[in-house]
Amino acid sequence: MSHPAIVKDNVAVITGGASGIGLAAAAAYARAGMKVCIADVDRERLADAATKLSSVTSATNVMTFAVDVSSAESVRELEHAVAAQFGGTDLLMNNAGIQPGSTLFGEPDNWQRVIAVNMWGIINGSRIFAPSMIARGKTGLIINTGSKQGITTPPGDPAYNVSKAGVKAITEALQHELRNTRDCRVTAHLLIPGFVFTGLTAKGRTEKPAGAWTPEQTVDFMLARLEVGDFYILCPDNDVPRALDEKRMQWAAGDIVENRPPLSR
Ligand code: NAI
Repeated sequence: MSHPAIVKDNVAVITGGASGIGLAAAAAYARAGMKVCIADVDRERLADAATKLSSVTSATNVMTFAVDVSSAESVRELEHAVAAQFGGTDLLMNNAGIQPGSTLFGEPDNWQRVIAVNMWGIINGSRIFAPSMIARGKTGLIINTGSKQGITTPPGDPAYNVSKAGVKAITEALQHELRNTRDCRVTAHLLIPGFVFTGLTAKGRTEKPAGAWTPEQTVDFMLARLEVGDFYILCPDNDVPRALDEKRMQWAAGDIVENRPPLSR
């Protein structure tokens, strides 16, 4: 783990941090000596997650916060609470996400929920945390969790696809604005996981399907590729049918696509 933001006593905030990829990331940051705030809408999961983290770090290095990322007010409270308890944020992982399913002709409720959580969550996190992270003057890192579905837009579940295509667009806007901010040492990465066995994808299964990754594998893959600069981290395909690969973006080359070259600064 070589990224200068991931060092002892720095502070990481992880939304959707009470389970799955977010919790695995929180555990990894805590193992590196960071103070971690896991922020999640699910209070029960938060309590369980804090117990799990107590096996990797001391209780004083862990903070939990009940947040609804779709609400700017709630995210603002989170930012203030982290500043009050830990002094500020060095790493923000905008990771909370839902996938209740949708069709274009179906009820609009899921559309609104998915866009509110998956897209507005990233907008709120970026807008509210970035200014204070920049003001710290330290190396800072924002990681947004996207999805291959935001790039390949397969048929089925269009609301999720749109929300994750939005995550990519918002991350690019964030990278652009950070690069154009004077004395800014904060950069942004887009994490694009493969098929990861979590509550989001379990759909009643208790056993990890062959080919799926664990959240820990995904986080290890990401950590090994974090560098200073603006990057996409695209995890290897494991479940995406070959035909969809043909729709890859031009920056995705080969079977395993790693960091996009740094954008010129
Ligand atoms: P998960 O369901 O284990 O974790 C998501 C967490 O987000 C949950 O703890 C949930 O309570 C929380 N959350 C939901 N709505 C929230 C809200 N309004 N405010 C705050 N927290 C909220 O799922 P997983 O798989 O760990 O998902 C993490 C991210 O990874 C999501 O953005 C998901 O879309 C993305 N992803 C997951 C993939 C997979 O195969 N599992 C593949 C590609 C992307």
